Amino acid sequence: MSQTEPPLDYSLDWSDDMSEKPISIKSGMKIRFENLGEITLQERWHAGGSATIYRGIGDNGEEFAIKRYRPRINDLQHQKDVELEMQVSFDHPSICRCLGHTAIELSSGRESHLLAFPFFEGPELSELLLPDEENSRGMEEFYSNEKVLLCYRISEAISIVHQEGWLHGDISDRNILLNPDPETMDIQLIDFEFARPAEMQPLNGEIRRGTPEYWAPEMIEFKWKGSSKMADIWAVGMLIGHIMDPHFKQYLGEIGGWRDWLESRGSNEPVLPEKCPEGFTAEVWSVVRKCTIISRNLRPDAKELERALHSLLEV
Ligand SMILES: Nc1ncnc2c1ncn2[C@@H]1O[C@H](COP(=O)(O)OP(=O)(O)OP(=O)(O)O)[C@@H](O)[C@H]1O
Ligand SMILES: [Mg+2]
Repeated sequence: MSQTEPPLDYSLDWSDDMSEKPISIKSGMKIRFENLGEITLQERWHAGGSATIYRGIGDNGEEFAIKRYRPRINDLQHQKDVELEMQVSFDHPSICRCLGHTAIELSSGRESHLLAFPFFEGPELSELLLPDEENSRGMEEFYSNEKVLLCYRISEAISIVHQEGWLHGDISDRNILLNPDPETMDIQLIDFEFARPAEMQPLNGEIRRGTPEYWAPEMIEFKWKGSSKMADIWAVGMLIGHIMDPHFKQYLGEIGGWRDWLESRGSNEPVLPEKCPEGFTAEVWSVVRKCTIISRNLRPDAKELERALHSLLEV
């Protein structure tokens, strides 16, 4: 920490000798991670549904994103989820790997899991899809070839996850971070909280998890039991809809829920609009549209989608 920064207040929440259990976890605390050494929690970077993300600084000045889960007591499903999230180390530049883990027992008896990741400045894709007044660049300001490249990057990342035999379980505009350099459109696929090997059943199949806006119909119908690689593909199709069409939200509102669609159009008609967006060919758009077929077996797999999108990239 530089001399000019105000001192952080960890002594307030962790007794001086650090042998007692802390009351809570806060900015300023030094946390020891196996393999990574001590990381000092800096400011809260983001407060999510089940966790708070802190920026962290390691011994040698390296930046980390520290995901601190809400403390819980004996939550077996949560323990299993964290165990799996820790294992995510797919070797690909678009996939955020977990670098370390620790669990801290608080004075209340609750246990809080902390995970360390490389730090990425963002923005979230959601910020570009819904730019606020001050936000400089919304998605509509990107050229169509940049948007197509972004769609390709997303398909490539999910294709790796699926190839490794896993599903992500929560593909959404909030779980993709962008480095919006139009040259590369690099992304980070994050938040593997609900990821698992595709064959593995969660302990509690009834729990609703993830982001409702991106749930495939079978997840709405069968709850978490409906999750699969094919449900990830539905979510990717929805994401591409949002990226390529600024009026997609409105369109979804107009067509009503998937049950209305099923009744009027049947289970084999893709939900994505027929009109081919700029930057796509009719052939590739037809593959993308198929991601949003209600009959999940008719959706393309991630590799097919990735190949189709790749064919649009300029060489
Ligand atoms: N490695 C990272 N670098 C920078 N920011 C990150 C990183 N990981 C997560 N974030 C930020 O924190 C937010 C929440 O992280 P994450 O999605 O892992 O937790 P969550 O509790 O599931 O949140 P949510 O309920 O919002 O999905 C992300 O949407 C992102 O803005
Ligand atoms: Mg998230």
